[in-house]
Amino acid sequence: MRAFVLKFLFALVVFAILFPSSLPLPFVVLHGIGDACGNRGIKHFTELLSEWSGSDGYCLEIGNGALDSWVTPLQEQTDIICAKVKEMKELSWGFNIVGLSQGNLIGRGIVEFCDGAPLVKNFISLGGPHAGTASVPLCGSGIICVIVDALIKTEIYSDYVQEHLAPSGYLKIPNDMSNYLGKCRFLPRLNNERPNERNATYKERFSKLENLVLIMNEQDNVLIPRETSWFGYYPDGAFDPTLPPQKTTLYIEDWIGLRGLDEAGRVKFISVPGGHLGISKSDMKRYMAPYLKDNPPPLKQTYISSWVASAWDAAMHKAGLQDDSPVLSPFNNY
Ligand SMILES: *[C@@H]1O[C@H](CO)[C@@H](O)[C@H](O)[C@H]1NC(C)=O
Repeated sequence: MRAFVLKFLFALVVFAILFPSSLPLPFVVLHGIGDACGNRGIKHFTELLSEWSGSDGYCLEIGNGALDSWVTPLQEQTDIICAKVKEMKELSWGFNIVGLSQGNLIGRGIVEFCDGAPLVKNFISLGGPHAGTASVPLCGSGIICVIVDALIKTEIYSDYVQEHLAPSGYLKIPNDMSNYLGKCRFLPRLNNERPNERNATYKERFSKLENLVLIMNEQDNVLIPRETSWFGYYPDGAFDPTLPPQKTTLYIEDWIGLRGLDEAGRVKFISVPGGHLGISKSDMKRYMAPYLKDNPPPLKQTYISSWVASAWDAAMHKAGLQDDSPVLSPFNNY
């Protein structure tokens, strides 16, 4: 009997070594501005997704977290995360990204700019300023905010602000397009907006995503306009109307491959109730967790385990443990 058990265990180990791709890919969480991986809210958020998907989740930090998320330029933040994902052995088979607010632009920077990084399969975005934002909200009180608020009120496209205030890298003032295109250091490149500098490699890499889940908060009043979470934005030169993603030039001329992905049915446009970054557990389960589970399972083994998982979910649901209870919106500033 004992020998049989040992043989069985040995076979399982061999199987796991031979078919590692049958395991769910790990995911990386990139937090928003003013937040830090050490904060309780973001830890809880990562743990829940991990628990529901059965995959390992890692919150990746930049410098000391909150302060650096404000004052380190986005290209530098992207370079830091790029180096980290290349170092992490856990990610070498590929991984998924969960982006929160500003973290989404770093995540896209990883997909588009990070030479030699493992492949990103699914990208889940909550409240991402993908097409820019027309206003940086004041930071509030506290020591960091004194500096930050002073910067916000100065010349936003100046070299100094571009070098010292992260959100200036995606601040897109529709009636100041020439300064934006000329001097804004991050988003115009990420979105392939400069007519003479479009890089086909960015588009090619972005087009490899298997699923792009774009979640917008219906009561978001931090992102201006909130439709930027879906790549919607204002037309050049005016603050209205707000164009749906499919009516923007980025989409129509397909600068980064969004249109191609959408036409292939790989972009999910989701909206959920809640203010910026607010999302209920049930919406996290519905719109995030499924993309973090293992892939359409190629092996018998994983069929069994996913069958067990869904039976478990069903049992939990019956037991009333899958609540629609209040929003997980623990993020510090926004
Ligand atoms: C486009 O981006 C790739 C990847 O970062 C880079 O290797 C290449 O030199 C860029 N091409 C141009 C024309 O800038």
